[in-house]
Amino acid sequence: MFKKLKKKKENQYKQSDIDLEVHNIPEHVAIIMDGNGRWAKQRKLPRIKGHYQGMQTVKKITKAASDLGIKYLTLYTFSTENWTRPKNEVNYIMNLPVNFLRTFLPELIENNVKVETIGFIEHLPTSTLKAIDKAKEETKNNTGLKLVFAINYGGRAEIVHSVKSIYDKLTAEGLTSEAITEEMINEHLMTHCYPDPDLLIRTSGEQRISNFLIWQVSYSEFLFNEKLWPDFDKEELINCIKIYQSRQRRFGGL
Ligand code: FPP
Repeated sequence: MFKKLKKKKENQYKQSDIDLEVHNIPEHVAIIMDGNGRWAKQRKLPRIKGHYQGMQTVKKITKAASDLGIKYLTLYTFSTENWTRPKNEVNYIMNLPVNFLRTFLPELIENNVKVETIGFIEHLPTSTLKAIDKAKEETKNNTGLKLVFAINYGGRAEIVHSVKSIYDKLTAEGLTSEAITEEMINEHLMTHCYPDPDLLIRTSGEQRISNFLIWQVSYSEFLFNEKLWPDFDKEELINCIKIYQSRQRRFGGL
């Protein structure tokens, strides 16, 4: 039998948490946070209100992931393709990290969370970059949950970037293509310091990968959740982990 999660603090875990197998918590959870626009539309609100509410969900899920002992939480915040959205929506999403970190950085620090990013962040507006740099700097020694924002991230662009840097390495070191291995490709990806995701969740009922971590999810468990991202909460995350725990992972073996 598996050991059950113990209560860390009074009321920290609700009944539903207690059923989780403590030795089988996914180490790395990656989430495609989808459905902000539909959430807003259902309420006859502008799309940006959905993104604002989505940011509130990021706060809740970060706290929940940290409490549950997840080690890496990677959130698909803005893709390399999202620049084609209306300008006001792009500007609003770009300002969300500023808002998020202004209101939430103290709590991240208090919870020992380390903020990191993957993606081509050098193309972000200066104010966004400044807020992210500040958060990275102030959390750099934290040893708890790694909260990884995939921002201006795209899996194909990441692979192109990786291939280019491998080509440069081979040329500089006078090596042939024989030197290329899976490990070498891994090392040149933006995710090189993280394990592959154990669990990939996409909210809003859509069943697509949308260019997210396309190399890294080769053996991840996929879970398509019906909730719109602003409605996703700790209970739902726990349900997703329970489903994950009920699956048999074979990694190509028997
Ligand atoms: C997809 O929903 C969502 C995005 C492209 C933006 C995601 C951003 C957040 C959840 C907030 C980020 C928070 C921080 C802390 C930076 P959609 O707009 O495609 O929804 P729809 O499919 O219903 O239109």
